[in-house]
Amino acid sequence: MRVPMIAGNWKMNTTVGEAVDLVKAMRKELDKVSKVTKVICPPFVSLVPIKELLKKSSIKLGAQNLYFAEKGAYTGEISPLMIADLCEFVIIGHSERRQYFGEAGEIINQKVAAALKVNLKPILCIGEKLEENEAGKTEVVVVEQLRSALAGIDDLDGLTIAYEPVWAIGTGKAATGEQANETISFIRGNIAKLYEHKIAQEIRILYGGSVNAANAVEFIRQPEIDGALVGGASLKATEFLSIVTQTAVIKLQK
Ligand code: PGA
Repeated sequence: MRVPMIAGNWKMNTTVGEAVDLVKAMRKELDKVSKVTKVICPPFVSLVPIKELLKKSSIKLGAQNLYFAEKGAYTGEISPLMIADLCEFVIIGHSERRQYFGEAGEIINQKVAAALKVNLKPILCIGEKLEENEAGKTEVVVVEQLRSALAGIDDLDGLTIAYEPVWAIGTGKAATGEQANETISFIRGNIAKLYEHKIAQEIRILYGGSVNAANAVEFIRQPEIDGALVGGASLKATEFLSIVTQTAVIKLQK
């Protein structure tokens, strides 16, 4: 059985002090919820103090990005090893990286490979834009993103996929549970084609895009959806906790 996961992507929010306060506000209650993998992905500058705060906690730490080279003259970048020293997870290929920083196929592929090489667990984001969705191209787009991101990668152990329709991110306009479930089922089917049925059944696939405490159930109750990548709502301790708690209740009923 796939262990459900709720991951909070804090994006470019919180100073170190604010990040520390946010962790303190949710740590104790989150630790009471078992059987859900709980991940928070704060900005790079807060990873060190938060790692310290989470020493005895079941909450896992993730980074929001990485560079694929091991080290060297890449001013301003952060290497896989630097992140692996602090985190278990790393978000790769988020649509905001694709949109604002020109990340696409090959770069994302190199990042996934580099992360896996140092035993970091990638949360690989894929998803279609509004115009692609309206043109009925969702499946073509996600399968192309999936294939290019995973090119040459034989072992998916540790990898999580997040299906995030770009039009649903930060817009308050979430997909419906059925829509998301259908696309995620399609993605799983393609993992089976590219790898094996067993691997497809084991891999965690999350939904992301305007998930909050009020609509989380709609996604979590879907059989193909293994959890959520949460942006805005992960910055509020009570909202994030509520999403995690609801996930535990729903997924454990099954
Ligand atoms: P959102 O962001 O929940 O604020 O829509 C999700 C994401 O970008 O991962």
